[in-house]
Amino acid sequence: MADFLSQYSIQRWLEMCPQGYLEDTVYGHAADETEPEELLENEELRVASIALTVQLIAGERAALAASSGLVNAAPDDASKMFLATQTLDEARHVEIFTRRLIDLGVKKDDVNQVVADLTNPNLVKFAEVLLEKVSNGDFIAGVVGQNIVLEGMAFSVFELLQAISAEVNPKFAHTLAGTIADERRHVGFGENRIGSLIRQHPERKDEVERMQQEMATHMLATFADVFSGAGSTMEKERERMRERGESLGAASTDWHGTDMSTATPEAMEATLAGTVLDEFKIRLGRIGLEYRAPKVPA
Ligand SMILES: [Fe+2]
Ligand SMILES: [Fe+2]
Repeated sequence: MADFLSQYSIQRWLEMCPQGYLEDTVYGHAADETEPEELLENEELRVASIALTVQLIAGERAALAASSGLVNAAPDDASKMFLATQTLDEARHVEIFTRRLIDLGVKKDDVNQVVADLTNPNLVKFAEVLLEKVSNGDFIAGVVGQNIVLEGMAFSVFELLQAISAEVNPKFAHTLAGTIADERRHVGFGENRIGSLIRQHPERKDEVERMQQEMATHMLATFADVFSGAGSTMEKERERMRERGESLGAASTDWHGTDMSTATPEAMEATLAGTVLDEFKIRLGRIGLEYRAPKVPA
């Protein structure tokens, strides 16, 4: 903690991120990498990939709005510096996933309409819970909602997508690798910064825990929608390709104990939800908050 100032400084960010793992990348990937032909030529798969990418853009737009809003709510300079770097990270995430939408064939002028049309309504609710705290200038709830809940979720979603894309779509996998490294830094800040504030303000616990529960409930509803929609289309298409002998990710891809190359969308969803909720429990425990299980939809 003593070195909090330098650990989260702009200098450190420059060394780790733009001069580190992002050096020589173009929109997050190598300059010569493109979306695979098999994906671009398969209409169903392309449409499902667009729908999935829209959810990433919607999540990152919320993260951009939250982290930039939290700069002004932050009570200390070190947090302001860090959140300023995070704001740029999140803007970059919006940009690279938007770029992917264009690479998948969406016209630049249609991007906002496509995002508006395809963003999952439960993901919108998830973001609204967070952004209300941020617009009230509530730093503690905002950081827990953003850096623990939203980014804990994003971190695992990106890891899952990276695992299933590594072989079949190195361009997307590389784009995700940089965002995962960014999210790891953001989650670390949330844990380090907020623990002491929660100890100073135990009276805030109940409200923050209720926010976590509400966000987790909307998150599970989002997962359910996405896996039954885009997830199952992708799986069907993958299966068809396998049958035709067009090996698309034939090697087994173990992710948290589930082989993602053969898992059904339901099994993938269950593994993802379980992984994210377990992470919430651990991280919230570290900052002195009690995890509250999401409400199961009626
Ligand atoms: Fe992000
Ligand atoms: Fe982030």
